[in-house]
Amino acid sequence: MRQTLVMGNWKLNGSKTMVEELIGALKAPAADTAGVAVAVCPPVLFLGQAQALLADSAIALGAQDADVHTQGAFTGENSPAMYGEFGVQYVLAGHSERRTLHEESDAVVAAKFAAIQQAGLVPVLCIGETLEQFEANETQAVVERQLQAVIDHSGIQALASAVIAYEPVWAIGTGKTATPEIAQSVHAAIRAFLAKQDANVAAGVQILYGGSVKGASAAGLFAMEDIDGALVGGAALQADEFAAIIKAGA
Ligand code: G3H
Repeated sequence: MRQTLVMGNWKLNGSKTMVEELIGALKAPAADTAGVAVAVCPPVLFLGQAQALLADSAIALGAQDADVHTQGAFTGENSPAMYGEFGVQYVLAGHSERRTLHEESDAVVAAKFAAIQQAGLVPVLCIGETLEQFEANETQAVVERQLQAVIDHSGIQALASAVIAYEPVWAIGTGKTATPEIAQSVHAAIRAFLAKQDANVAAGVQILYGGSVKGASAAGLFAMEDIDGALVGGAALQADEFAAIIKAGA
């Protein structure tokens, strides 16, 4: 039985005041919803503050990206080992905004995935097709290519201690959530693809859906057999919306 995981990716949003207020408002909904794991990924600068605020909470901490190196002359970067010092449990790898705006290739994402695991943290591998690829019926080929790059680098067993987030790029920040049926069909195909390489890994890995998830759309998505939670952007910045998504996972 896979646990539902609701993860908020705050992207480049926040302030000290907002971090205090939002985390304060999420503690009760997260505690009241036993059985649903909850995590938040604030910007790096707020990880220390968030760690302190979450000390007495079941909400886990995540980071949005990581460098492949542990330390050295890599100006501006943050390493998975450093995240470990701040109590970070999850790190996103290959979010579409990193792939697009920072030109991260499948190979770079695979190296980041491995570095995150080597530091003892859980990578959340983000995969998904663009609108153009969706309209050309290339969704399956794209997500398989993105998954296989990680498998080629780290091996199929690496996915046993990872999370996958399927995020169609056309649904991110657009208000156009994939229907539960469309999302389920891709999630099932991802699991079938993995099952050809290892049935146990395929059955056990959590596959989150991401792309304009709101309180009102979460329950329909979570009712699907192969959807194990959500990676939430915009709605994760609103306590009431995010709490409603958490509740929908119960
Ligand atoms: O990481 C989160 C995803 O990019 C989804 O963002 O909920 O604002 O569409 P969104």
